[in-house]
Amino acid sequence: MSDAFQQKVEEAIRNPKNLGKMEDADSVGTVGGAGCGDMLRMWLKFRDQDGKKVIDKASFQSFGCETAIAAASLATELIRGKTTEEAMSMSGAELAADLGPLPPTKIHCTTMVEDALRTAIESHQGKACENLEPKSQSTRSSNSLLDNMNASTKGGKGLKVVLLPPEES
Ligand code: FES
Repeated sequence: MSDAFQQKVEEAIRNPKNLGKMEDADSVGTVGGAGCGDMLRMWLKFRDQDGKKVIDKASFQSFGCETAIAAASLATELIRGKTTEEAMSMSGAELAADLGPLPPTKIHCTTMVEDALRTAIESHQGKACENLEPKSQSTRSSNSLLDNMNASTKGGKGLKVVLLPPEES
């Protein structure tokens, strides 16, 4: 992995933009990386502009690697003001263009961001994503990613996710 790429990722995650659940979202898309098991959820809020549906704001949560967090942070800034068609046409690499050329092992991290965005838009358009299952799933639920992960493990099976307080320095 190049130093320049690593430096850009570190810059992006030092102060991630639009991190967290959006309470008044119109749509949400959740995807999981089949290979690495990471997860990403993206919330979208739309507005009408000149008769078109435009992304007003976006936010995300991620249980993923640094690259996915950096890419999602950049993407949620980049897609503001884009029409749904424009956003749907963007690849993961385009959404994370500020990171520079992606190392081959990190391409899927930005694809996960692309998939979460597409899933959220398709969910809003009423095109539930049969073609994305089981890799991705969409929901209009406003639960956080953490809520859903914990709910799916009720009954003592599987994994319980608990956020730890930040370490004191
Ligand atoms: Fe899984 Fe990056 S390694 S999203």
